Amino acid sequence: MDWGLHNRMARFVKPVTGHTVMLAADHGYFMGPTRRLENPHLTLEPLLPFADAIAVTRGVLRNSVPAISDVPIVLRVSGGVTVLKEDLSDEAITTSMEDALRLNASAVALSVFVGAAHEHQSLVSLAELVDEGEAYGMPVMAITAVGKELEKRDARYLSLACRVSAELGAHLVKTYYCEEFEKVVEGCPVPLVVAGGPKLDTDRAVLELCAGAIAKGAIGVDMGRNIWQSDHPVAMIQAIRAIVHEKATAREAIQMLELGKKASPPRSVPA
Ligand code: R5P
Repeated sequence: MDWGLHNRMARFVKPVTGHTVMLAADHGYFMGPTRRLENPHLTLEPLLPFADAIAVTRGVLRNSVPAISDVPIVLRVSGGVTVLKEDLSDEAITTSMEDALRLNASAVALSVFVGAAHEHQSLVSLAELVDEGEAYGMPVMAITAVGKELEKRDARYLSLACRVSAELGAHLVKTYYCEEFEKVVEGCPVPLVVAGGPKLDTDRAVLELCAGAIAKGAIGVDMGRNIWQSDHPVAMIQAIRAIVHEKATAREAIQMLELGKKASPPRSVPA
């Protein structure tokens, strides 16, 4: 890996643990004002001290994140379709590498839609972005999006999507946790982080997902709704950090979360 690319990656994949807690807040690019992310500044501000990176679009970055912040940025650079359309796979690159560099991004991210109507264009976009990333020292994270077909979140499908992303040159892949997740890890020669997906029913389920993913070889999480839709987002991200960086078990993290709930400030974002 070239020095610049390696250095950018090391900003958010913490060298001490080799792991990362990325805070995903890019949902608005196709979902609009998602619940509890209506005002990204209010949502993000209390969480920034606990995030190894934030995953956002350039619009949220420029308008909702202070430029004096030192949180590393994983910049979402794909889009072009919204939830009002049936086919979410019709994405293209929406932000140039030049703008990513201007914004001092630590990585760029795009969705790939393996098996979807626009599989080809998303995979070619990935390959082209990797060419640019290699030229400028910018890591590229491929996000194995499943569109509206959530039933595709099994090890067979995700192994395929992750492996194809790595083969096309992605430096990091974001995917979903699933049964037999170790098979997804085994077949993917680059590091994996997991998304959380829609808010789970219990805190325990969130922390067990994180612990399972780390135990089976993920290097971290890139999680959004299960953190900032929580009634105690600060306590939740701290509990997740304990799992990802300190090898806490799900049980230990739950205890930590309960203590954190008592100490954490009331959320500033309306329910
Ligand atoms: C969605 O398209 C984005 O890639 C999100 O960053 C991703 O789904 C992670 O967020 P969440 O944990 O809320 O699923």
